[in-house]
Amino acid sequence: MKTLAIISQKGGAGKTTLALNLATAAERAGLATAVVDLDPQASAKGWHDQRQQESPVVISAQAARLPEVIETARAHGAELVLIDTAPHSESAALAAARAADLILIPCRPGILDIRAIATSADIVSLAKKDAVVVLNAVPPQGHLHEDAEQAIQSYGLAVAPTRLVQRAAFVHSLTVGQTAVEFDPLGKAAAEIIELYQWICSRVDIPTRASVRKTA
Ligand SMILES: Nc1ncnc2c1ncn2[C@@H]1O[C@H](COP(=O)(O)OP(=O)(O)OP(=O)(O)O)[C@@H](O)[C@H]1O
Ligand SMILES: [Mg+2]
Repeated sequence: MKTLAIISQKGGAGKTTLALNLATAAERAGLATAVVDLDPQASAKGWHDQRQQESPVVISAQAARLPEVIETARAHGAELVLIDTAPHSESAALAAARAADLILIPCRPGILDIRAIATSADIVSLAKKDAVVVLNAVPPQGHLHEDAEQAIQSYGLAVAPTRLVQRAAFVHSLTVGQTAVEFDPLGKAAAEIIELYQWICSRVDIPTRASVRKTA
């Protein structure tokens, strides 16, 4: 079983969007997947309540119980666990980071978002785990992401080769209890998620059983 922690001390960076989109991509690739929602606002859990299907399971939990929750998921056959975290809670983010095989840090390409990455970089150092920043909500035009990548690398963090662009499909899909690969399987948002998912799989050695891209 592999565990991915999604952390960012900045609110609205895209933690829940990334967690749920990667979780459904993993399910489509044939992996039994669980999302652990450490955010007291329970956005991921609320998304799951709206769905017509059980998978991926979403478990609301408190950070203090994270090791037990992960062990229970493993005992129930989970092959991939994604931990969605709250902003402004460094202790919960550190607990998630310590439990992870890979830490994902979504970051918008704005200067305030990039400055906030310093806290996440500190958490990564404390956890001593592999980490990568995922640029999110990047404008479809222009070169803002290039400056952002340079600034992020100056904090000693790697940047994932796939960026998520600002796209309506990311917003609308979550609103109806879906994600990009379900809402518009052949769209650009889905393509970005599939590319990112596959890159993560090769980085942490997650097996691929089926093609993520399905039209229904
Ligand atoms: N790539 C994107 N394109 C368009 N909208 C996006 C994108 N990523 C996230 N959003 C939107 O931005 C808002 C914040 O995203 P999200 O809830 O995933 O962030 P978060 O980091 O989980 O926030 P919080 O810190 O409050 O938990 C949501 O309305 C979401 O739909
Ligand atoms: Mg969230």
